Amino acid sequence: MARMQFPAGFLWGVATASYQIEGAVAEDGRGESIWDRFSHAPGKTANGDTGDVACDHYHRYKEDVAHMARLGVPAYRFSIAWPRIFPNGRGALNQKGLDFYRRLLETLHAAGIRPFATLYHWDLPQALQDRGGWANRDTARWFADYAACVMEKLNGQVEGWITHNEPWVVAYIGHVTGEHAPGLKDMRTGFLVAHHLLLSHGMALQAFRQLGLKGEIGITLNIQLVHPASEREDDLAAARRLDGVFNRWYLDPLFRGEYPADIWELLAGVGVAPAVQEGDLQLIGQPIDFLGINYYSRTLAAHDPGARETLGVRMLSGPGPKTDMGWEIYPPGIYQVLTGIHQKYKPKKLYITENGAAFPDRLEEQRGGEDGETYAVHDRERVDYLGRHFYQAGRAIEAGVPLAGYFVWSLLDNFEWAFGYTKRFGIIYVDYPTQRRVWKDSARFYQEVVAENAVDDRFAE
Ligand code: FCB
Repeated sequence: MARMQFPAGFLWGVATASYQIEGAVAEDGRGESIWDRFSHAPGKTANGDTGDVACDHYHRYKEDVAHMARLGVPAYRFSIAWPRIFPNGRGALNQKGLDFYRRLLETLHAAGIRPFATLYHWDLPQALQDRGGWANRDTARWFADYAACVMEKLNGQVEGWITHNEPWVVAYIGHVTGEHAPGLKDMRTGFLVAHHLLLSHGMALQAFRQLGLKGEIGITLNIQLVHPASEREDDLAAARRLDGVFNRWYLDPLFRGEYPADIWELLAGVGVAPAVQEGDLQLIGQPIDFLGINYYSRTLAAHDPGARETLGVRMLSGPGPKTDMGWEIYPPGIYQVLTGIHQKYKPKKLYITENGAAFPDRLEEQRGGEDGETYAVHDRERVDYLGRHFYQAGRAIEAGVPLAGYFVWSLLDNFEWAFGYTKRFGIIYVDYPTQRRVWKDSARFYQEVVAENAVDDRFAE
């Protein structure tokens, strides 16, 4: 059978994040995070859903690692909850919080699974938000202190450290549109936050190097593929601007030590360029070991002078079929993003740190099912989505991109931020009332892909 073969040692994995799966928000001394505060405020999430219980992974991590082992994945990406380690963001370390991650890491090692840990996947300690959060430059230092402490304590047990997950989302959705915690709506704040996130990445990276720690370190960006809505000159310019604020605003300082001049000028023109201090860009531009990319969809950009917060760009969805998030399914985009970044920025190594899709899955009871299981979820669309994206990633490797691994979002259905539990991204279904885990067809499919280290050619289209 013709198929796309991946290089030996390719790191297939699954990804999750602390607040989305752990639950146990008041256990073992964990402090409040901005997502606890935000999700408990009326009207902020679908059905008023919160992460209080989520997938109860804090108690069920052994069962969840057993699922990973059965999937056969060589790697797992999870995140560490800052408020478990420092309940007030800084000060005294909470040993019990750290112990949870030690237990998780031991369980992963025993199963032969290589851990990748994200240090910030959006759950800022509320105590730091009370001091201004990421809009306060001091938060960058506090993050670096937390990061250095965790990396040192867990030295040698984590293979890859990811400082931040998707700084654009934190800055923009959290501080400009206000749909995510902390729910602020101010463009100036958004760009200041973006700068402080990048600065904190640089400070954590510096600490990692100075301490001479084991493993590799990088950052994860949500690279948004932007295409112009038409070939009109003003739409082409809109696409360049949107790519500028989404992508280049992060990639340029990280890889070139400078903010993109065209976007800087536009921001300065409307008085929202961030305060940058001497030495900041040197810190941000230190070499990283890998770049993590989260890819889900593409965006079309149309010229719209009324869209102030996106510098005169209206964001549209492409014409293709959509997932349950309303995101266009566009597999060639993952190839375009990977090859584009490889050509332009030449990262030493790349990982897809997230890719996956939400669909309205249905739990079905089956009598005498194939392997005697009582429940099943036939998620044909997710199998198709994953297969086609894997295939395009394989093409990127063939084209010379140093892509070393691919983490599927997500191991489990989980708390999808403002959408609460209404969107299911898992390859394993979670029946929330019972916390039962049920393998979807996509989990079986992924198990095969991992075992064969290859994807069938039927996903080439
Ligand atoms: C990404 C987030 C992740 C998850 C997916 C669907 O933006 O990093 O936590 O919510 O989207």
